Amino acid sequence: MSDLIHADSPLISRRHWLKLAGVGAGAAGLGLLSGCSQSEAVADTAEAAPDTSGIAIMSSNENPFGPSPMAMEAMRAEVGNIYRYSGPSLVELGEYIAAREGVAPEQVLITNGSTPLLAAFSQWAFMNDKTILTSAVTYEGVPRVAEAYGANVIYTPLTPDLGYDMEAIAAQVAPGMAVYLCNPNNPTGRTIDPAVLDAFVDTVSQTNPIFIDEAYLDMAEDYPAGVMTKYVEMGRPVVVARTFSKIYGMAGQRIGYALMPADMAMEWRGYGHLSSVNQLGIVAARASLEDTAHFEEMRLKTKAGRDRLIAMAADLGRPIAPSPQGSFIFMDVGMSNAEFARQMMDRGVRVVGNRWTAMPEWTRICVGLDHEIDRCHEAAAEILSSI
Ligand SMILES: Cc1ncc(COP(=O)(O)O)c(C=O)c1O
Repeated sequence: MSDLIHADSPLISRRHWLKLAGVGAGAAGLGLLSGCSQSEAVADTAEAAPDTSGIAIMSSNENPFGPSPMAMEAMRAEVGNIYRYSGPSLVELGEYIAAREGVAPEQVLITNGSTPLLAAFSQWAFMNDKTILTSAVTYEGVPRVAEAYGANVIYTPLTPDLGYDMEAIAAQVAPGMAVYLCNPNNPTGRTIDPAVLDAFVDTVSQTNPIFIDEAYLDMAEDYPAGVMTKYVEMGRPVVVARTFSKIYGMAGQRIGYALMPADMAMEWRGYGHLSSVNQLGIVAARASLEDTAHFEEMRLKTKAGRDRLIAMAADLGRPIAPSPQGSFIFMDVGMSNAEFARQMMDRGVRVVGNRWTAMPEWTRICVGLDHEIDRCHEAAAEILSSI
């Protein structure tokens, strides 16, 4: 899914959301949890002229610059073959990713977006009587789904500068716990210091499973330093999840993968809801991985957009979570975030409302096209000038 639907969305109550989450990856795979309606989901692509009349969607952490031209071409070329099941291509893509990442093909699990992987980890934790240990104010894909299954979740508070408190998390680790880390964290955009992360994963994975969500890691400035796949290679109980929804600009196509222990991958496959990976996503994923020019271009464009959002916050005089490294900023709006989001929407800009309830005056704003950032800046200035 493009991003989890907001708990405060008028379209869905939290209870309803939990119920949906309770049906697990099936609902996610059907797109029931998608963050925006179909009509809103029409994103500008590299091929389309910017549409300045529509809503600027700066709430869903999509890549507004669109997918790789090579991925689009690969999908066009494959359309006539979709009457076949995707099994053989899936095996090939798994082998390709395994060779690229230095793991065995059995250690690669490819799914329709990474959401089903997060849900499978939650399901696995519940079925194996594990408590999930994570941070407050993080991506909900694991903790909320784990709670919906009935698993216990422990949230450690953020540090004063809105980072994960790795010392506090380490101090809480106990037998029977499984750790979820989102790096960079959604919604704060903060990364865990690579040395601290490495020491944590090295120590904790000797006793406890760890799931590291790297959905935005390839947008970070020190990207390679934060990659934790070596622990998967070493055979530790570490799951590294990646997605093609973010830097590769394929949120609507639904494809992601995990690098993980082979026996765990086998167990998750047995859940039965992870096997349906779509053929066009498979060929587009392979082409995207081969299109290194698009990858580098997206890194530059994302950083430029992020820098513009940082400058916007400075101009508005609003604090943000420092040094964001994903495709978004987390900004203190100094008023109810739900009200801010409502007023922004009145001005044609969609940002996150009251989604992380512990921080009711903070909103997440993601990179848009230049004209969308202009519009966001203008709208926010108008709203915030009156508080
Ligand atoms: C941190 C994080 N992980 C995972 C996902 C799931 O993305 P997808 O299912 O599109 O791969 C998202 C989506 O916004 C996310 O922000």
